[in-house]
This record gives sequence, structure tokens and C-alpha cells, in this order.
Amino acid sequence: DGKLTVQELANKLDKSASEIIMKLMKMGTMASINQEISLEIGSLVASEYGFELVQGGSDEEELEAIEELLEIEEDREEDLVKRPPVVTVMGHVDHGKTSLLDAIRSTNVTSSEAGGITQHIGASEVMVNGEKVVFLDTPGHEAFTSMRARGAQVTDMAILVVAADDGIMPQTVEAINHAKAANVPLIVAINKIDKPGANPDRVKQELSEQGLLVEDWGGDVICVPVSALKREGIDTLLEMVLLVAEVEELKANPKKRAVGTVIEAELDKGRGPVATILVQGGTLNVGDPIVCGLASGKVRAMINSKGKRVKAATPSTAVEILGLSEVPQGGDQFVAVATDKIARNVAEKRQQMAREEMLKSNQRMSLDDFFSQM
Ligand code: GTP
Ligand code: MG
Repeated sequence: DGKLTVQELANKLDKSASEIIMKLMKMGTMASINQEISLEIGSLVASEYGFELVQGGSDEEELEAIEELLEIEEDREEDLVKRPPVVTVMGHVDHGKTSLLDAIRSTNVTSSEAGGITQHIGASEVMVNGEKVVFLDTPGHEAFTSMRARGAQVTDMAILVVAADDGIMPQTVEAINHAKAANVPLIVAINKIDKPGANPDRVKQELSEQGLLVEDWGGDVICVPVSALKREGIDTLLEMVLLVAEVEELKANPKKRAVGTVIEAELDKGRGPVATILVQGGTLNVGDPIVCGLASGKVRAMINSKGKRVKAATPSTAVEILGLSEVPQGGDQFVAVATDKIARNVAEKRQQMAREEMLKSNQRMSLDDFFSQM
């Protein structure tokens, strides 16, 4: 519920409740033992202890205690509002993923942007009937594999592109499996229907062999014939995206501190570490201290998918952020925290543990090497 009681905080910090109450008093907050305090204040108190929370506890426990404290505030039902869907386009090589995204973008740009779309980040936003839809341009498989492997889920649904003249191919099957494993709804776009050799029925047949029975064959898989090249069927496809989003009832709480996932990141010569992140909950503001994988920092600037600088990013917004101490990895989670100090402390702790982890595996390795040489 986004709060914790003084007693709970004391437990987390391994301190007596009365000590915590004293600390709170010094900070100008009067609280009783069972009173709920905001995580904001809780984090402040924790930072007072410099995160040497669990005396005698292991590093893991200590880190857990810290991270639990940063832990993403739980959402209250009344704070949840509708958020735009995040969609990934997947499919076999050359079946038209990029062309489809191009078609989607060009048929749905507002006049002010027309012709001037520069894609700065690996995500794009389009307006469909007044509703925003976010498309991740990261190659579908990569996004699914690397992020899912790391426990991150960024996409709400997948569009599976299948060329009507080529049918289901190995990477199509892979994509289907990824979507199934991630448990996200799938919309099939049968592409290239303009081609003389196009055979949508064959695609539907092959889909059914993969356990995907399309709607007009009595199943529940939404399937839209399109031509990315001729810009045909795009509107219908986008309507289906909205329909699925509607059913999913996608919601998020924009009121809390931001949480989300790194889509991609790189070291830019002039700007330093640059990360494209997807805000999944809360609102990220310029100036917010954040922890992002092993990196920390203060958000120095944010650039949206249209290349414009923005001051705030709400749920289901992809932005490029500057100001991190180092380059995070795709799939890393980020979380905005109360103070710079917390951000630094957590990142340092994580780095320390990563180093220890590496050392351990190096030791194991050298031992293996040693035996293999005997
Ligand atoms: P990779 O990124 O390499 O996996 O390919 P992709 O899936 O992004 O395919 P891309 O959009 O690059 O399209 C591959 C080829 O198919 C290009 O030559 C496109 O012009 C062509 N193509 C894409 N969509 C259509 C279509 O609807 N009709 C026809 N006739 N050609 C298409
Ligand atoms: Mg492509």
C-alpha cells in the first residue's frame, strides 16, 4: 500500500522502534509505533544509517534489506490510471517488421511532425484514434530473450509479422514461443498480401499447426492481412492493438517514484552514458536520483521519441536519459529514489557484490583450469 509502519521500518533496519521514533522526531515527524510513514521518509531514515542496516548479517541480507526499502511502492487502486500499450513487433527475417513499423509511423504522424520524424531512440509513439501506442523497435527476439531472461517484462503484446508468400519460418516459431512464454497476447499481421505469390490461407493453416487458430477459422487469434509496402490494413491492425489493450486493462500509477526497464544503453562520446528506458510505473522527472542496474545518478536530461527534451515521463513512455554514472545493461531495472545518497549507496553495494561474484567465479575458473591441466 505504498507505506510502512514505524515497527516495520525498525525491523527492516534492525533497530528498535523507539530509536526510529527518535530519528523521525529529529527529522520533524512525530509518529507512533504502529503509524504508517511514507517510503520517502522511511528511505531518509534508512539513509541516516548509511545502510549498514543488518549488523552481522550477510551482504545478501543487507542488500535485500536496502532494496526492499527502495522497493517499489505498492499501488493503491485509486491511483491507477489507464496507460498506453507497449507493443513489440516480431517475426522472421525479411518478413517486413521494419517496413510495418515505418508504415505505422507514417500513416499516423500528426501534421506537425509529418516528414520530420527522426528516430532518436529505439521506441516510437503513434496516436491511434486519439490513443497513444508505444512501439519498441528493439529487434523482437533480443528484447524478449535478453529481458525475459533477466526477469523484465516490457511488452504488453506482440505483433507477429508473417510474410504471406513465405509462411511460417523458424524465427516465426521462435517468436510464437517467446510470446507464449512471456504470456503476452499476440496479434498476427499477415504481411505482403500485395505480392502475387501471397497465400494468407496457407499462413493460417500453418498457424493452426502451431496451435494458433485464427478468428475466422473459429479460434481466438486476431489476424490482420496487411501490406506494409502499400500501406494497406494498417489502420485495422492498429485498431486491433487498441482492442487488445482495452481487454488487457493496462493501468499504472503515475503518482509514485518512477520504476521501469532499460531498453538499450550506450556510451556516447559527448554525452556520456545514455540509456533508453521505458517508464512502467510512476513518473520520472529531470533531477530525480535513480539507481539503474549497477549505475546510479541524477537524471540530467530526458529526450523523448521525437527527439524533444522533456521534463517528466509518465508510465509507458520511452525516453533517453542522461546523467548515469556508467552504462547499464538492456533489461536492467531502474528505480527513482528519494535521495542521491540512497542512489549512490545502492549502486555501490551492487557493484561491490558484482565484483565479489566475479572474483568467486574467477576463482572457480582457475581451479578448473588447474585441474584440466593435470
Ligand atoms: P529484418 O530486420 O532483416 O529481419 O527484416 P524485416 O522483417 O524488418 O523486413 P523489412 O521490413 O526490411 O522488409 C524486407 C523486404 O520485404 C524489403 O525489401 C521490403 O521492401 C519488403 N516488404 C516489406 N513489406 C512488404 C509488403 O507489404 N509487400 C511487399 N511486396 N514487400 C514488402
Ligand atoms: Mg528490420
